[in-house]
Amino acid sequence: MAVEIKRVKYMPELRQVAELASEIWHECFVGIISEGQIDYMVEKFQSLPAMTDQIDRQGYSYFSVYDEGELCGYTAVKPEKDDRLFLSKLYLRKDKRGRGIASQMLERVFEEARILGKSRVYLTVNKHNDHAVAVYEKVGFTKADVAVTDIGGGYVMDDFIMEYVL
Ligand SMILES: CC(C)(COP(=O)(O)OP(=O)(O)OC[C@H]1O[C@@H](n2cnc3c(N)ncnc32)[C@H](O)[C@@H]1OP(=O)(O)O)[C@@H](O)C(=O)NCCC(=O)NCCS
Repeated sequence: MAVEIKRVKYMPELRQVAELASEIWHECFVGIISEGQIDYMVEKFQSLPAMTDQIDRQGYSYFSVYDEGELCGYTAVKPEKDDRLFLSKLYLRKDKRGRGIASQMLERVFEEARILGKSRVYLTVNKHNDHAVAVYEKVGFTKADVAVTDIGGGYVMDDFIMEYVL
């Protein structure tokens, strides 16, 4: 069975994505941000209520990624009012990395941008997330700016803003 990427439409699947998100975040951000900040950000951005609100009230779409029928990743996007699509999330479980799945996920994001009539995709990525930055650069994103964002709880996000022109 090939990789399948599909829009998340129903609550039971979103609940599974929330569980996967917590697992991935507690693995991939160790050494980049503190455990406390990981817990805080998972609750604030990737809990089931947070994601439900993003979809219902903030214009986000989530896409789940299945490999051999197994949920192993997710991505989320939000159209801006201008010509940009915001790539908000791109996460793949560790054992599924390095297999070309990320490129398929990004292709789906670019397809969504085209469907929505957008000409640019942008994202924020932690400045110390070297692998993700390298992946984005390989695909054709370039660093456009930096941003330090106060997310409450005494935490900040220290990011590059990267942009891809379709
Ligand atoms: C970011 C993430 C989804 C990328 O998935 P991945 O499986 O690790 O990516 P891949 O290894 O398939 O790499 C994707 C492409 O970048 C290339 N690449 C990877 N590392 C590279 C490097 N250091 N230098 C240059 N190119 C690189 C790969 O060759 C591949 O290109 P190809 O498809 O043309 O062969 C995954 O690493 C992940 O989930 N990380 C943890 C969560 C995270 O940090 N998300 C981003 C938050 S902003």
